Amino acid sequence: MGITKNIAVLPGDGIGSEVTDQAVKVLNAIAERFGHSFNYTHGLIGAVAIDETGNPFPDETEKVCKEADAILFGAIGNPKYDNDPSAKVRPEQGLLKMRKNLGLFANIRPITTYDQLADISPLKNEIIKGVDFVVFRELTSGIYFGEPRGRSEDGNTAFDTCLYKAEEIERVTKLAFEAAQKRSKRLTLVDKANVLATSRLWREKVTAMASNYPDVTLDFMFVDNAAMKIIQNPTHFDVVVTENMFGDIITDEASVLSGSLGMLPSASIGTGVSLYEPIHGSYPQVAGQGKANPVAAILSAAMLLNHSFGLLKESKLIEQAVKKSISAGVCTEDLKPSKIHSTTEVGEFIVNKIKEAVVV
Ligand code: IPM
Ligand code: MN
Repeated sequence: MGITKNIAVLPGDGIGSEVTDQAVKVLNAIAERFGHSFNYTHGLIGAVAIDETGNPFPDETEKVCKEADAILFGAIGNPKYDNDPSAKVRPEQGLLKMRKNLGLFANIRPITTYDQLADISPLKNEIIKGVDFVVFRELTSGIYFGEPRGRSEDGNTAFDTCLYKAEEIERVTKLAFEAAQKRSKRLTLVDKANVLATSRLWREKVTAMASNYPDVTLDFMFVDNAAMKIIQNPTHFDVVVTENMFGDIITDEASVLSGSLGMLPSASIGTGVSLYEPIHGSYPQVAGQGKANPVAAILSAAMLLNHSFGLLKESKLIEQAVKKSISAGVCTEDLKPSKIHSTTEVGEFIVNKIKEAVVV
């Protein structure tokens, strides 16, 4: 029996619309094959929303999100704001407001490697072979949101506040422990407890929770050491839980293991509707040129089907089709294929593989 669902599509800035277009094509191919019906409502966010409404996360978009069964998001950011410290509104504020207002407190970022792409990684094959871990990044607190923040009156001092409450630590950590139970039962807390008070609270709370998960082995790693281990010995990791900013930084770093930032999807979940987004940014340098890798967006759609709609078979079919595109060398330029394919060509190849696949 097919299901009917409403999906909010927020392409955002830069390459966001090109890659989400491919993800929607893939979702449509799935709907057709399995008799599902997906309805899409588009919303504005980021620089495009500022241009049209003055607000990077308009109320209308928030409404569309809250009424949807899941959200597919592209990317945010426009260089015209990056070097303008006096800009009053910024595209990124839209993303942060969306995460906060939708209660998306956990960002799940799986790091997968593909044998066929081992050679394009700057790391040696033997280091990346078998890498498969997942980072649970806390997403609605920490230094990204703490108050007060700002400047002194003379403008010569600036400050941000890193603040964590026990319950903010516990809710994301619970998800990480549960994920570890379903995987190889290892959880690493990445923090900076040798320096930061917030990190010491993380250690205290995470340690206290460990007794509820006796089958999971918990270890701790300072973030600077973790940054090194991700490059030196990435198979050490299975499930990682960490605060907002550390999670932001180490997942960009970890993306290098998979060959390209263009490969990695993520799911943001919390108190209501969930959101799925590539971990890459808006890559304005190539926007509109058909060069962007749509795989992260397409795999985000696969995560959406699995996590929000419980459609595991459909989700796996997308992952298999993506693997086939990599094996066939039908890839965008970031993956250095012998022949470069465009964003749309990669999307269409994956759609065709979904159409052709024998489903049992
Ligand atoms: C990400 C991005 C965002 C973040 C930016 C665009 C605000 O880098 O989703 O990782 O820092 O969270
Ligand atoms: Mn980031």
